[in-house]
Amino acid sequence: MAFEFIQQALTEQAAQALLRTRAVSPHGLNFSSNDYLGLATHPELIAAWQAGANEYGVGSAGSPLVTGYCRAHAQLEEKLADLTGFESTLLFNSGYSANQALLKSLLSKDDLLVQDKLNHASLMEAGSLSPATMKRFKHNDLAHLQQILANRSEYENALLVTEGVFSMDGDQANLSAIAALAKQHDAWLLIDDAHGFGVVEQGLGSVKQQNLAASDVDLYMATFGKALGVSGAFVAADKAVVDYLVNFSKPYIYSTAMPAAMAVSIDKALDVMAEEQWRFMHLNSLINYFRHQCQARNITLLPSLSPIQPLIIGNALQALAVSEKLLQRGILVKAIRPPTVPKGSARLRITLSANHTMADVDLLLAALQEALVGGSVYE
Ligand SMILES: Cc1ncc(COP(=O)(O)O)c(C=O)c1O
Repeated sequence: MAFEFIQQALTEQAAQALLRTRAVSPHGLNFSSNDYLGLATHPELIAAWQAGANEYGVGSAGSPLVTGYCRAHAQLEEKLADLTGFESTLLFNSGYSANQALLKSLLSKDDLLVQDKLNHASLMEAGSLSPATMKRFKHNDLAHLQQILANRSEYENALLVTEGVFSMDGDQANLSAIAALAKQHDAWLLIDDAHGFGVVEQGLGSVKQQNLAASDVDLYMATFGKALGVSGAFVAADKAVVDYLVNFSKPYIYSTAMPAAMAVSIDKALDVMAEEQWRFMHLNSLINYFRHQCQARNITLLPSLSPIQPLIIGNALQALAVSEKLLQRGILVKAIRPPTVPKGSARLRITLSANHTMADVDLLLAALQEALVGGSVYE
């Protein structure tokens, strides 16, 4: 049989409790989604999408440089530039493609790419496929970063990449220290704020939260599929950089533009985010409450102030077992296993949303307590 490795690879995954399968999301209390503000089902976003579809149709029917780019896209890009303080922005269909676009079109053979070890797979993949030399520094370890940057002069250009809020740990990078190091070593700085935009600083993101100006950061990438509740992403940068991407980035040039109706819905999400400030307050109360209650129950979470509250189980099989027990009580918390997270750190990635009530969190706490004791994963 051709491609004999396929069955073998799947068998090996299963033997290590790492086989990935898709389940049509069951009904239940969802503590695994990235819908941090609870906007994915917001009636105003739905109505905006419907109105957008009535005006523009359901698809964009072309790539942005041919006929796919229309007024809705242009307006959204302008709004995002105003909001973030960058000169220019560019829409992408996903954060994955935005990261491919950035790393592959900006880096050349004689360049250095430096990434936090816990950066998202889309950044790692793009880095490996780019012709640059990629080095990774230990998670949030500024001394290690400095050590790597000490050899910066051996390379033509250098690009330093970190997340604002880390997707699997929920902690944050020290952006002002990282920006200072980037400046000191003449490196560009890219911040992937997929989990910070729409979440921290009233949704304005990690750069604003950490009191940096847009001019301290060369490239900013954030997504619409998480706190904003829709899908897609944008890159913010100087106009020349955006013009360069429009000319040389294949994921941008050779892909059908985001449906305009979706851009209309994202535009509305930005308005709702600004208007419904209670969402941020409520989300923060849920986070504080959940953390305190876990502490009272001896449930140890990673130190995170964001809606991402990871509970490390360690062993992949045990993580699956706890997740299954929670599901039996109607609570959806997926187990996240290697290689998405480092070996030995399989976890429940618990996420909170402004759509949850305190009573929902109480149900989660009770179910967790039972599932963890039953599974004897306290160590
Ligand atoms: C940090 C980070 N960057 C990029 C992405 C990719 O974004 P998207 O889901 O829009 O492709 C994700 C999530 O999937 C992410 O967590």
